[in-house]
Amino acid sequence: MNYRRVGASGLRVSEISLGGWITFGESITDQQLARELIVLAYDNGVNFFDIADSYAKGGAERLMGAVFKEFPRHTLVISSKVYWPISDDVNDRGLSRKHIMESIDRSLRNIGTDYLDLYFCHRYDTETPVEETVRAMDDLVHQGKILYWGTSEWTDEQIQEALDICEDYGLYRPIVEQPQYNLIHRRRVEETILPLAEEEGIGLVVWSPLASGLLTGKYDNGVPEDSRLAQKSWLAEGLLKEERLDAVRQLKTIADELGVTRAQLAIAWTLRQPAVSSAITGATRRAQLEETLKATEIRLDADVLERIDELFPAQRELA
Ligand SMILES: NC(=O)c1ccc[n+]([C@@H]2O[C@H](COP(=O)([O-])OP(=O)(O)OC[C@H]3O[C@@H](n4cnc5c(N)ncnc54)[C@H](OP(=O)(O)O)[C@@H]3O)[C@@H](O)[C@H]2O)c1
Repeated sequence: MNYRRVGASGLRVSEISLGGWITFGESITDQQLARELIVLAYDNGVNFFDIADSYAKGGAERLMGAVFKEFPRHTLVISSKVYWPISDDVNDRGLSRKHIMESIDRSLRNIGTDYLDLYFCHRYDTETPVEETVRAMDDLVHQGKILYWGTSEWTDEQIQEALDICEDYGLYRPIVEQPQYNLIHRRRVEETILPLAEEEGIGLVVWSPLASGLLTGKYDNGVPEDSRLAQKSWLAEGLLKEERLDAVRQLKTIADELGVTRAQLAIAWTLRQPAVSSAITGATRRAQLEETLKATEIRLDADVLERIDELFPAQRELA
């Protein structure tokens, strides 16, 4: 495993990390399987595990947290997130000071840890002043409940707004942004987020590097019954488009020539960007994780990147 700094901070995360969305506490409720996957990742050098309070309504935090107890705490980089509604209560959502202060305590209890290494604002909250959010995050760092904070799916302008407030008042800056970045969804990140990240020393930990498994080729000839897109029709609707499936099928030729799988190629492709600190993948089976973890060894030359660009153009997202 290789480790990268998260932007200009001193924190180091594994190039490949494991997340809990849709898997832990949802498609995987068996504690034994959850344990097997997390231990496999850890034994292969994964130190960064990404969760959110909303994943399985706290179930991912509880399931993953129970396994983390087996490892020395300092060897883990644990994240969680706040923003999405947790109940019907009017204040149990968003990035208000009230919701942030109450959510961190719930997440720490669920995971069974005294602090989070990273705490993400899971979206931008248009109904809370950014200064209120930034000050709450700064306070959490001072309280020792979080070590660093970041954003997820914020625009470059929204991140800049937060950075400016931190600069003006001497507050702890966000060190990381968590955007979706993969061969299917690349344009927004490459045009707006990467330039800001490079200029401001913000690290990117990117989600769904396999586009929920689409880029592995598992949907080449239909939707397997035991796959994510069979279980989540709302995701399948957005992802399964003929032009994309066709490009994924053609990606196989390039992968075969390199002697790697499409899953490995797709992850190595996100890691070619120096501003990407980690690719956060997911897995429901041991074999999947064993496969994707090998992606760290792959280097892609200019010729291969050009051929990939032809299949998945940077300027236009495949419909
Ligand atoms: N910040 C945000 O808003 C946000 C949003 C989404 C995700 N995330 C984070 O990113 C993490 C990863 O997202 P993701 O799960 O969508 O990542 P992904 O790596 O794109 O997709 C993972 C899924 O693809 C399938 N898969 C993985 N490896 C495979 C292989 N080698 N061969 C065949 N199928 C394979 C599995 O699904 P099946 O076996 O079920 O088909 C697996 O659960 C999440 O857990 C979460 O931590 C963040």
